[in-house]
Amino acid sequence: MATASEFKPTIIGFLCNWCCYGGADLAGVSRFQYPPYLRVIRLMCSGRVDLQFIFRAFAKKADAVFVGGCHLNDCHYNPEGNYDAMGNVLMAKRILEKVGVNPERLRLEWVSAGEGTRFAEVMNDFSAKVKGLGPLGSSEGLSVAEISSRLQIADELVPYIKLVERERLRVPVRTEEGYKQFFGSERFDELFNELILDKFVMSRIMGFVRRQPVAATDIPARLDLEPSEVARHLHHLTERGLVKFDPGQRLVAAV
Ligand code: FES
Repeated sequence: MATASEFKPTIIGFLCNWCCYGGADLAGVSRFQYPPYLRVIRLMCSGRVDLQFIFRAFAKKADAVFVGGCHLNDCHYNPEGNYDAMGNVLMAKRILEKVGVNPERLRLEWVSAGEGTRFAEVMNDFSAKVKGLGPLGSSEGLSVAEISSRLQIADELVPYIKLVERERLRVPVRTEEGYKQFFGSERFDELFNELILDKFVMSRIMGFVRRQPVAATDIPARLDLEPSEVARHLHHLTERGLVKFDPGQRLVAAV
C-alpha cells in the first residue's frame, strides 16, 4: 500500500470554461506550481455540475472532486448558474456524509480567469488536504467497492432528489449566506432526513434483499442503524408490499 508521501491522489476537477478554466490556464502559462493530480473536465458553467457527476466520479475511484466556477454574480450565462452549483455541492456533501465518504473530499471554489495565482494556491491547499485524507475509503474505513455500491444507490435517487429540491427544499434567499443558513438549518435537516435519507436507507435495504434473503436482525449492523430505526423502515417497506418474509422468516423482495 502507498505511504502518505507516495500517494498520488486522483482529483476530478469540473471547471467552468469562462472563469476557473481560464484561471487554471493562466496558472499553467505563468508556470505557477501545483501538484499534477487534477484531471480537468471543462464545462461551460459550474451550474452544469450535476449530483450524478460527483457521485460517478467517486464511484470510479476518484479520491476527490473539485468544482470551480466564476465568482458569485459573475456567471456568464445566468447570474445564478453558480448558485445552482453551490446548492448541488452542499447537497452532495450532505449525501456523501450519509454514504460514508468524507465530505471534505469535495470542494467548491470561485476563481476568475485572471486569478492564476489563486488557482495554484487553491490546488496546492486541496491537494495537501486530499493527500492527508489518503485514498478514497482509507480514512472512511470502507472498501471502494462498498462506497461504489452505496454511491450507485445515491446516483439512482438523483431524479427523485431533484424533484424534492424543487418542491420542498428550495433555498429561500439566493445569496451565499442564504445557502449556508438554509443548508445548516434544523428545517433542512428535518426535510433531508424525512425526504432523502429515509429513501436512501430503504433503497439500501431493497438492495440487500434483492441480492439474497436476509435475516431482519442482520440489517441494523449492516446499515449501522438502531434496530428501532430499521424496524420503522421495514414497516414502510412491508406496508408498501416491497418486501416480505420467506418461509424461513428471512426478508426477500416482494416485487
Ligand atoms: Fe462560470 Fe457560470 S459561466 S459559473
